Amino acid sequence: MSLLELNDVKVHFPIKRGVFFDRTVGHVYAVDGISLKVEAGETYGLVGESGCGKTTLGRAVLRLVDITSGEVVLDGTDLASLPDKEMRSMRRRLQMVFQDPLGSLNPRQNIESILSEGMAAHGIGANQEERREKIRAILAKVGLPSNALSRYPHEFSGGQRQRIGIARALVLEPDVIICDEPVSALDVSIQAQVVNLLDELQEELGLTYVVIAHDLAVVRHISDVIGVMYLGSLVEEAPSDSLYAEPKHPYTKALMSAVPIPDPVVEEARERILLTGDLPSPANPPSGCRFHTRCPWAQPKCKEERPQLREVGDGHRVACHFVEDIESGVLQIGTDRAAVVPAARTEDAGIEAAAAKAAEAAEAAEDKAVEEKSASVEATDSEAAETDSTESAKDSTAQGA
Ligand SMILES: Nc1ncnc2c1ncn2[C@@H]1O[C@H](COP(=O)(O)OP(=O)(O)OP(=O)(O)O)[C@@H](O)[C@H]1O
Ligand code: SF4
Ligand SMILES: [Mg+2]
Repeated sequence: MSLLELNDVKVHFPIKRGVFFDRTVGHVYAVDGISLKVEAGETYGLVGESGCGKTTLGRAVLRLVDITSGEVVLDGTDLASLPDKEMRSMRRRLQMVFQDPLGSLNPRQNIESILSEGMAAHGIGANQEERREKIRAILAKVGLPSNALSRYPHEFSGGQRQRIGIARALVLEPDVIICDEPVSALDVSIQAQVVNLLDELQEELGLTYVVIAHDLAVVRHISDVIGVMYLGSLVEEAPSDSLYAEPKHPYTKALMSAVPIPDPVVEEARERILLTGDLPSPANPPSGCRFHTRCPWAQPKCKEERPQLREVGDGHRVACHFVEDIESGVLQIGTDRAAVVPAARTEDAGIEAAAAKAAEAAEAAEDKAVEEKSASVEATDSEAAETDSTESAKDSTAQGA
C-alpha cells in the first residue's frame, strides 16, 4: 500500500450569482478526477501551467478546500470522509510549504513562537523548554543559526525565510510534506540551495514529498515520479528520468520541447513544438480530451471521448487515445495547430513571433483542421491507422484508470 493515495479526486468550486439569493450558475472544475500514488520516502513532482489546479489539489489533500468527491487515503485512512475533529489531529501528518515564505509567516511572531505554535497544538514536547530544544535542532538541520529563535521574519532573506517555512513543517514530524512552488519566489541562485536542502533532508529523515511547480527544471532532479497536469486532470505520469527522456503525451512533448538542452549541438538540431492558444477556462472545459483545442495531433474522436489515464509501457501512464499511433508515426503532427520549428530558428525569430505566426495559421484553419488531419491519416495508411485507432480506443476503455 502506498503512503498517500488519491482516488478520482474532484474539487469543483461553485460559481455563485445573485444579489439577495446566491444561485449556483456553474462550476470551476479546478480538479477533475485525479488518481495517483505517492510512495513512502519518495518525491512526487506535479507540474502544469498556471491555473491547471496544482495548488487546489495540494490543498484538497490537506482538506483546506472541500473535496467534491473521491478519496484521499493517507496510510490507510480516507481523509475525505474523516470527521473534522479527527482530521485536525491527522493534519500534523501532512504539512505544506508555501510559495511565498514571507506571506505565510506571521510578521508579529518571532521564529520560536511561529515554530512552537503548531507543536503545542499537537502536543509535541512536554513544555516550552523541550520544544525550544527541538526547534534549535531543526533550525541547525535547515542551516539557520540558533539565535534565529528570537528574531522576526522580516530580519531574514527570502531563502532563509523558506528555510523557516521548511523548519515549521519539520518540527511537526509529518509523514508527507506538500511543497507548493517552494522556490519560485526566490532568486535563481538561491533556488538550487533550497532544492538541495529538501533533497538532503529527505535522505537524512526519510521524508516523503509532493513538490508542485510550473517549472519542469525544479521538479526534475528532486522527483522520483512526475505527474503532468492539464486543466484539472493528469495527462501523463512516469518516473522522472523516463518522462524527460521520452515524453509520450502531446502536452508533455510540447512542455519538454520548450526546455533548453545544455548541449549546443543537440539543442540546435532538435525541434520544438510551440502550442498555440491559451489554457481554456476550467469553468468551461473543452469536451472529450481537454487538450483537443491545442493538440497538434487531434482527431474527431478527441472531441467526443475523454481519454482515461492508462498504462502504455515503460512505467508511463498516459491519457491520450492515439499515443501509440503518435509514437509509431502513423499519426503525423498537424501543422495548423502547432509550429514545429528547429530550435535555432526559434531563437533567431523569437519564440513569441513563432507562436504568433502559428496562432494566425491556427485561426485561419481551425474549422477544417480535424477533418483534414483525419483524411491525411487515412490516405497515408488507411488500414493500419483504422485498426490501430480502434484498438487503442478499445484499450483505453478497457484499461481506463
Ligand atoms: N476558492 C476558489 N474558488 C473558486 N475558484 C478557485 C478557487 N481556488 C482556485 N480556483 C480556480 O481553480 C483553478 C485552479 O487554480 P489553482 O490555484 O489550483 O491553479 P495552479 O495550478 O496552482 O496555478 P498557479 O500555477 O498559478 O499557482 C483556477 O482557475 C482558479 O481560479
Ligand atoms: S486524445 Fe487526441 S487531443 Fe487528446 S492528446 Fe491525444 S491526440 Fe491530442
Ligand atoms: Mg498554485
